[in-house]
Amino acid sequence: MYIVPKLEDYSPAALDKAVQELLTAARQEAEAAAGENEWRAFRDRWMARKNGILTQINDLWLKAAPGPSKREVGARVNQLKVQVEEYVTVAQQRSSGSASKSRLESERVDITLPGIVRPLGAEHPVIKTMNEIVGVFRAMGFSVAEGPEIETDYYNFEALNFPPNHPARDTQDTLFIAGQEKKPQRDRLLLRTHTSPVQIRAMLNQPPPIRVVVPGKVHRADTADATHSPIFHQVEGLAVDTNITFCDLKGTLDHAMKSLFGSNVKTRFYPSFFPFTEPSADVQVTCFKCGGKGCRLCKMSGWIELLGCGMVDPNVFKFVEGNGYDARKISGFAFGMGVERITMLKYGIDDIQLFYQGDVRFLEQFG
Ligand code: PHE
Repeated sequence: MYIVPKLEDYSPAALDKAVQELLTAARQEAEAAAGENEWRAFRDRWMARKNGILTQINDLWLKAAPGPSKREVGARVNQLKVQVEEYVTVAQQRSSGSASKSRLESERVDITLPGIVRPLGAEHPVIKTMNEIVGVFRAMGFSVAEGPEIETDYYNFEALNFPPNHPARDTQDTLFIAGQEKKPQRDRLLLRTHTSPVQIRAMLNQPPPIRVVVPGKVHRADTADATHSPIFHQVEGLAVDTNITFCDLKGTLDHAMKSLFGSNVKTRFYPSFFPFTEPSADVQVTCFKCGGKGCRLCKMSGWIELLGCGMVDPNVFKFVEGNGYDARKISGFAFGMGVERITMLKYGIDDIQLFYQGDVRFLEQFG
C-alpha cells in the first residue's frame, strides 16, 4: 500500500516536488492497470472516499498545514485531484476497450455456418376449404357476411320458423348460457347451431335484392366420433330477389359443386325438410371415388349427400317484412353446407377429429 508522506516543509518548491512524486506514482499505476478489475483497484486506491490516497492527502497535508500555507496547499491538492481523476478516466477507457475486445472475440459469429430454417405454417385445411367455397360464390356475385357465435333463441330458431317446443329443435340441441330463466325465451343466449340465423341478420341489414354467403363456426350437442364434432364450420348462402326460382338454386349449387369437386360431378336434389325452407332438398353429388358405380365411401349408392337447401319459406320473410321482404313480391333460396364434411370428401380424410388434434404431420400436408 502506498504510504502518503507527511509534509514537513510547506514551501512552494517542496509542495511541487511532493505533488510531482505523487503524480508520477499515479501515472505509472494508471499505465499498468490492464483490464476491468485492475482499473477498479487503481481507482479505489486513489479515489475511495474512506482512506483513498486523495483522502489521506487531504487529511495529512491540508488539515495539518499551518494557517498561512493553507491556500497554497489547497491549490496543490485540487490540482492533484483533477490530474488523478483524469488518469482514472483514461485508464478506464483503455481497459474497457480491451474488455470489449475480448468480449467481441468470444462472441464471434461464423457467418459461413448454415442458417436456422424456421418451418413455415400452413393454412388449416378447414379454413382453406371454407375460403375456397366462399371464393366460388364471390365469383358469382355473392357478398360475404358474418354473425355472432353466441346467438339469441330468436335468431337461431324462432325467426327461422322453429316455434318454441317445435320438434325440429331437437335435431339441433345446443348449450344455453346459464342463468337466463328470467328472460323471455326469445332473448335467451345459446351457442348457434347453424349459420342460418345470419340469413335473418343479413335481411334486416339490407333490403332485397341480396346475395350473401356466411362462413362460420357452429355448435351442436353431438358426441365426437369419426364423423361428428360438437364444434364445426358451415358456409351459409342466401339469395333473394324478384323471380328467384328453384331453377336458380339448382343452377347455382350445381355450378358450385363442379367448381369444388371437378366438372365431372353431377348433382341431384333429394326431398328433405327444414323449417325455414319450402320446398327443401338435400344436395347429393355423384361419388367422386367410384364415379357413381357404388363403393364404401358412398355406401354403394353412387351418391354422396353434401348439403341442405331450399326456397326461403314465406313464414321467414314475415320476420323481416318491414325491411322490404314482402313474400308476395320476392322469393329466394338458401343453402347451408358443412365445411369439415366437404374437406374430408375432397381430400379423402376418414376421421373428422384429425382437424382438431393439431398434429403437424397431418396439418402440414395441406400447405
Ligand atoms: N341450417 C341447416 C343445417 O344446419 C342447413 C340449411 C341452410 C338448410 C339453409 C337449408 C337452407 O342443417
